[in-house]
Amino acid sequence: PVIETKDIDGVIRYMKSDKCKKIMVMAGAGISTSAGIPDFRTPGTGLYDNLAKLNLPYPQAVFELGYFRQNPQAFYTLAKELAPGRFRPTITHAFVKLLADKDLLEVCYTQNIDTLERRAGVPPNAIIEAHGSFATQRCIECKRPFPDATMAAHLRDGSIPRCQLDRLPPADDAKEHRDTAAESSETETDVCNGIVKPDIVFFGEPLPKAFFDGFPHTLEADLLLIMGTSLKVHPFADLADMGVCPRVLINRDPAGDIGSNHDDVVLLMSCDDAVREIARGMGWEEELDAVWAK
Ligand code: OAD
Repeated sequence: PVIETKDIDGVIRYMKSDKCKKIMVMAGAGISTSAGIPDFRTPGTGLYDNLAKLNLPYPQAVFELGYFRQNPQAFYTLAKELAPGRFRPTITHAFVKLLADKDLLEVCYTQNIDTLERRAGVPPNAIIEAHGSFATQRCIECKRPFPDATMAAHLRDGSIPRCQLDRLPPADDAKEHRDTAAESSETETDVCNGIVKPDIVFFGEPLPKAFFDGFPHTLEADLLLIMGTSLKVHPFADLADMGVCPRVLINRDPAGDIGSNHDDVVLLMSCDDAVREIARGMGWEEELDAVWAK
């Protein structure tokens, strides 16, 4: 095997070797929990166990387009709690930025919509936000963008943003949706009035083009670092099977089939503790703290 011992020291030794020049990161909600953002599936604290007040038919409905169209308030009640701005990157985000500073970061694929990778200073061209983000938003009917400042105000107070642009003449393929929008608007006006949604990927929606365009990175990487994800959501989870390099899982719980390849290492621990220990082993601990403090 390329990683000789299946522990954190084995990972550090490999990272120090000249075989490890490019690291691909796959990140999930577990890298942001220490910032105060709940993950989705941890029993008890995860979001899906705490949505009772939204009266959803089932937890994932809050991220489904069909449900959103009927009941956008559930999403906006949640978004008020989740919207970026209130949270600071974790030491794990800082570690990814440090990998970039060391020219070791091939790419950081993230499922997170909290934009904390950007806020930590990871170069934008090295981040692939596979499930979109709160950074931009558009009308679900006419698809035209909606102003950031107005959106920020809606996210702060939990109210539903509606498209204020002139109504477009209906296109044939969009007619059905537009009729729904017209019915739900209180008066027949000249504005579109479609519900605005952040450019977050809801269940059943396609992933952004960047997700697919990034596939060659899986073959370039010498190490795949999978952090803070249950690997339960596809196609994101499939990235873990596309490369040929050693895979290291840093997560509180086992995830996917990581551990089944002869070059896999599974570190069942907190992301922040693990990256600190790796940084210490690499002789980077002070730099890590300096990056995090910024
Ligand atoms: P999950 O909630 O499914 O998994 C998070 C994982 O992180 C769990 O296995 C936890 O054990 C682990 N974890 C939590 N805190 C940790 C910590 N401090 N250190 C180490 N591990 C920790 O979240 P994701 O895998 O990110 O999709 O979920 C994937 C997608 O499902 C999300 O992007 C979202 C959701 O539905 C959409 O909204 C489209």
